[in-house]
Parts: sequence; structure tokens; C-alpha cells
Amino acid sequence: MDRIIIQGGARLEGRIPISGAKNSALKLMAAALLTDEPVTLANMPRLADSRFMGHLLAELGVSVEEGDGAELRLHAATIAATYAPYDLVRKMRATFNVLGPLLAREGHARVSLPGGCAIGARPVDLHLKALEALGAQIEVSEGYVDAKAPAGGLVGGEIDLPFASVGATEHAMLAAALARGESVIENAACEPEIADLAAMLTAMGAPVEGAGSSTIRIQGQSRLKGVRHHVVGDRIETATYALAVAATGGDCILDGAQWAHNKALWRAMIDAGVTVEPADQGVRVARNGARLQAVDIETQPYPGFPTDAQAQFMALMTLAEGTSVIRETIFENRFMHAPELTRLGADISVHGSEAVVRGVPRLRGAPVMATDLRASVSLVIAGLAAEGETVVNRVYHLDRGFERLEAKLSGCGAHIERRSD
Ligand code: EPU
Repeated sequence: MDRIIIQGGARLEGRIPISGAKNSALKLMAAALLTDEPVTLANMPRLADSRFMGHLLAELGVSVEEGDGAELRLHAATIAATYAPYDLVRKMRATFNVLGPLLAREGHARVSLPGGCAIGARPVDLHLKALEALGAQIEVSEGYVDAKAPAGGLVGGEIDLPFASVGATEHAMLAAALARGESVIENAACEPEIADLAAMLTAMGAPVEGAGSSTIRIQGQSRLKGVRHHVVGDRIETATYALAVAATGGDCILDGAQWAHNKALWRAMIDAGVTVEPADQGVRVARNGARLQAVDIETQPYPGFPTDAQAQFMALMTLAEGTSVIRETIFENRFMHAPELTRLGADISVHGSEAVVRGVPRLRGAPVMATDLRASVSLVIAGLAAEGETVVNRVYHLDRGFERLEAKLSGCGAHIERRSD
């Protein structure tokens, strides 16, 4: 099994290219099921998760081809299967989002429940309620969701989400695009990935209004067309490298990063004493010499502080002067990085949904274990800032969501390598 070995202490300097957003790309791939015409996704991140979604789509009859550079071509000329078995859904929750498109296009689908995951229970009740609001009949038994559309297909409806769930909002949009008439989603999630999906569905012929606000309107169509779509930049990858640069006291331009998509993070970093500013085609992050200051954060749906950057921010706070209180409000079990960070010398105590981080002057390298995607990369950040060698085990978590991580970091001076022995 691969390991990442880091010799800490090198400042990151230079430019880091930001890839397309994993969490957008996976739903855009599911959208390819909505049309029998070809779909091309540009700026696609090459990740284990996108390959995995590609395998599932191929099982459903979609032709999946990697093009030049960061292109992915998908063509669902016909749907060969409307059944997504447990083995193809359990590993990655985003695969569940094929249910809505299959149901909308074929009138029925059987998809395994994604199950829980390390960061929390993560039910799909809101996804199912959204599909029911479009007329679907849903039965859940033996770990599978069986969904059926009414005889004439799904019908536009009003979907009122009790919580602004990202996945449920996207799932509702995907299904509503092929439902008859208008659908309205109230209390919709506002993440940039939602706006990205809205732009793609609009270009496919189903106009979507209001994406980025809490009310989204979709004009469903009986047929959608093919599209070429550029995947939005990854705001979580951006956040991760921004925090890595700050932790090492470096100075980098994050190429292709969108200033507007990370404002809550920029505020917290600026309060901590880091220089963050819009730069030519990206964002500049720098910290030269001065000690970091402790800052409290609370994770919130967008535009609040992203839960997907909480672990990485905690890694930065381990080195701050003072005490930082970090509250996680989105997932119930998302502090698994805390005990691993303490192996490097961090002083963290966790009480329920709150972590209290007492800053220490320095971290020291140690072997650590990756537990989930964002937790793993927080260990990489801490390892880059620590003295000596850090070995991150169970690297497959990182490969799910970070494209060419070692290359991007060593490209600006980090001593980091992968070993597979
Ligand atoms: N929830 C329910 N019922 C539902 C759906 C969600 O109770 O039907 C709960 C969840 O259990 C969770 C909360 O609502 O406690 C938030 O879940 P949400 O649906 O908003 O998140 P998601 O769609 O499952 C996406 C990202 C996550 C990211 C969250 C929040 C993808 C593939 N995943 O998950 O990304 O943390 O939004 O921004 O888009 C990651 O990339 O590491 C990751 C976990």
C-alpha cells in the first residue's frame, strides 16, 4: 500500500495549478445520463473518485472516454441498465446521484443505498423526498431504493428542503431537468458546484434560474441535448493549498483559484495573520515570518466556512499563538484527524462537535494514518510544516480527491514523495 513521505520544513514558493472541482465533476458526470447526445467535460480532475463514477456510468451503458488534457467524453446513446448494485455505490456517495437521472430518463431505477461513511451517518432521506415531490414512487428495502415515475414521466413540483443539502439539491435539479413543467427547490444549497450544474443543465436545454440563492427554478424538458462544459475550479483544493502555504510560511499563487468562492476561509486566514489577495488569474497566499494567531471557526453551508476545509484549517491552527475553537456543524464525526495531529505534537481536545486547539510553537514529524479524504490532507499540511519526517499511511484516501498532490507540492519546493513498498 502506498505511503507519502514528507521531510518537513520547506517553504512553499511558486505557483500551484488548481484543478476542476471533484464535487462538481461527479454530478456533472451523472448529468450525462440525461441525454442521448455526447457530453464533453473540460477541466476534469483525474481522480480515483471520477474514475469510479466512470466505471458505474459504463455499467449503465454510457461510453466513457478520456480525451486530451483534462477532457472527459461521455455518451449515453442508450441506457443499458437502470440498476446500480451495492458494490458500485457503497464506495462513494456521489454515485447515488445516478438514481434521479435514470428515473427521469427511463421511468424506473434500482440503486443501492450508499450507506454510512467515516464522517457521519449521511442518510439520503432528503434525496428521496425530492424525487417523490416530482411524482416518483419510492420503496426502500434490503438496502436498495426502487423508484418508479408516473406513466407519463416525472412531473415538475415544489421541493422544500428542511436542510440545504448539497447532494439533495443537485439530485432534485438533475431529475427536474427531465420532468414535465417547472420545479421549484426551496431552501436549496448555494454552493458554487450547484451553480456549475445549473449552467450545464441550462446549456443542455433545461433553463435553471436562481442557482446560488436559496430558491432554484428549473424548466423541465422532454429531451435534453449534448453539451461541452468546463468544470468549475476546486474551491476545496484551493483552500487546502492556501492553508499549506500559510502553514509553511511560504508565498504562492494558486493558479485558477476563484477569490469569490472562498471568502469565509480568506477572512479566517487574514484574521490569523496570513496575506491573502486576489492575484493575476488566481489568489496569492503568503506568510512571511510572523507567528500565526488563533482564530475560531464554525463550519456552515456555503457561503459559511466549508466543512471540507475544517481539518486543513485545524492543521494550521495547531501552530498558532493562542487557543482556537473549531465547531463542526455539518457532520457528526469529522474530527478523526485530531488524534493523528496530536501524534505530531499538536495540543487538541475534542468535546462533541467542538475541538479546542491550543497552539504549539512547532510540530515534529511522525507516522500517521489517513482516515478520510480531507483528514488525510490535513496530515500532509501538518507534515509539511513539521520538523523532520512524516509518513502518511493509507494514501488511497488522498487519491480520491487530490490530483497529482505530490507533483503540485514538490513543484513549489516541498520535499514529498510517494513510496509503494
Ligand atoms: N443529510 C441528511 N439527509 C440527506 C442528505 C444529507 O440528513 O438526505 C445530512 C448529512 O448527513 C450531513 C448534512 O446533511 O450531515 C450535509 O450533507 P449534504 O447533503 O449537504 O452533503 P453531501 O451532498 O452528502 C457534499 C460533498 C461533501 C461535503 C458536503 C457539504 C460531494 C460528493 N460531497 O456532500 O464533500 O462535505 O457536500 O459541503 O459533493 C468531501 O469532498 O470530502 C466531502 C465529504
